[in-house]
Amino acid sequence: MLNTSGCAEVLYMEERFPGVYKENESFYTENLVPGSAVYGEPLLRSGGSEYRRWDYNRSKAAAALKKGVTRFPVARDGAVLYLGASTGTTVSHISDIVNEGIVYAVEYAPKVARGLVSLADTRENIAPILGDARKPAAYASLCSTVDVIYQDVAQKGQIRILKENADLFLRPAGHAMIAIKAQSISSTEPAETVFEQAKDQLREDFKILAGKKLAPFHTDHLYLVLKYSS
Ligand SMILES: C[S@@+](CC[C@H](N)C(=O)[O-])C[C@H]1O[C@@H](n2cnc3c(N)ncnc32)[C@H](O)[C@@H]1O
Repeated sequence: MLNTSGCAEVLYMEERFPGVYKENESFYTENLVPGSAVYGEPLLRSGGSEYRRWDYNRSKAAAALKKGVTRFPVARDGAVLYLGASTGTTVSHISDIVNEGIVYAVEYAPKVARGLVSLADTRENIAPILGDARKPAAYASLCSTVDVIYQDVAQKGQIRILKENADLFLRPAGHAMIAIKAQSISSTEPAETVFEQAKDQLREDFKILAGKKLAPFHTDHLYLVLKYSS
């Protein structure tokens, strides 16, 4: 059904995790800036609120939800450190979820960071940081202690990057979500081997709570939900 503004309207949205909704096999977040889409995603209205469809082909978090990941530990008042923000596709949905919290979004490529800064102009809970996730001390003055680290840097040292950022910013028993890209870590070893080695490394500091391989949406990617145990 379409409402008077041409936006589709449904009677019921099922809340699967705080601030994460499901309707007809797609996932949505409640739009922090009603009337405005971020990357051309469809908008949906229900019960007086507006929701943005979360594209699982463009976001690893949405792909993990689509694949049935059992944990999504982001609270509505949470503080999230997002490493590898790019122009902010996934950051925008995390910003919808933490409508009473904040997302510190780190990106090191100046060109894409421009898009992130424009996004932050429209959303008060995004703090964009032009910085290198391999050097967390350099942005320590811009970021506080967080409840969750989300990491999608697609880089060889991504496990070490997560650990170093956790040591500086993650609260005790905080959570992390990481999208591990096998090809970025090793282009010669089978993805399965890379994933097992990455999990072993992560177990030194984290408990693995849940995980999903993201194929067919993102090939050779493993998404893990972790709890900090240091
Ligand atoms: C796969 S893309 C991220 C896509 C984004 N997470 C999303 O879903 O919208 C990886 C991003 O991480 C950034 N990146 C890679 N290494 C980084 C580092 N050391 N510090 C900060 N950003 C980094 C890249 O520039 C790129 O924009």
